Amino acid sequence: MFITFEGLDYSGKSTQVQLLADRLTLQDHRVLILREPGGTDIGEKIRKLLLDKNNDGMTEASELFLFSASRSQLIQEVVRPALDGGMVVICDRYYDSTTAYQGYGRGIPLDVIHAINRYATGSLAPDVTFFLDIPIREIEKRMHSAKTNKDRMESNGIEFYERVRNGFLQLAKTESRYCIIDGLQPIDDLHDIIWHHLTEILVPQK
Ligand code: TYD
Repeated sequence: MFITFEGLDYSGKSTQVQLLADRLTLQDHRVLILREPGGTDIGEKIRKLLLDKNNDGMTEASELFLFSASRSQLIQEVVRPALDGGMVVICDRYYDSTTAYQGYGRGIPLDVIHAINRYATGSLAPDVTFFLDIPIREIEKRMHSAKTNKDRMESNGIEFYERVRNGFLQLAKTESRYCIIDGLQPIDDLHDIIWHHLTEILVPQK
């Protein structure tokens, strides 16, 4: 089973990815957690290029190709073999992030984005995608209190985030694999909603 988590920066995805993986492991599933961009030797090098604030001259096309290049490595080297081996793969971001950030956020035409997404992944779609939705003002709050240096992608400004969030909501309207979750709820409640969705909807169909 291939599960993806999507959301804006600071939406709490990584916490939920870990909680879900722990619970599935307790139930004797073999689980692999992955994070994009990265997850392979080549992918980690690409990740550094993408997030480095010194690379402020990066073109939108370069950014699109680099995210997609990292993903292509991850799918071929890690995801496909793991799925073929019967593992549950949970990915913190996948090609919907490219649609939302590079497509809706940067304004690259969606037909270009979709074609590249398909090509980079051999059209491997997730079985289920959890979108943790939080309002932009909450992201601003979390960014301020995190006090870490913003990476290149986090330095894009509020209007960019509005477009990205709208992109995810548009995707959720058209893709039946989507489960939108109100990310402002307490961590344990979010986990329960995710678990319920997974067990009630997906597992019985297996
Ligand atoms: P990361 O530190 O992994 O952030 P997060 O914990 O929020 O996932 O940085 C990844 C950044 O790259 C994040 O700002 C989202 C962005 N991104 C894209 O713009 N396009 C993509 O295809 C992917 C996978 C990520």
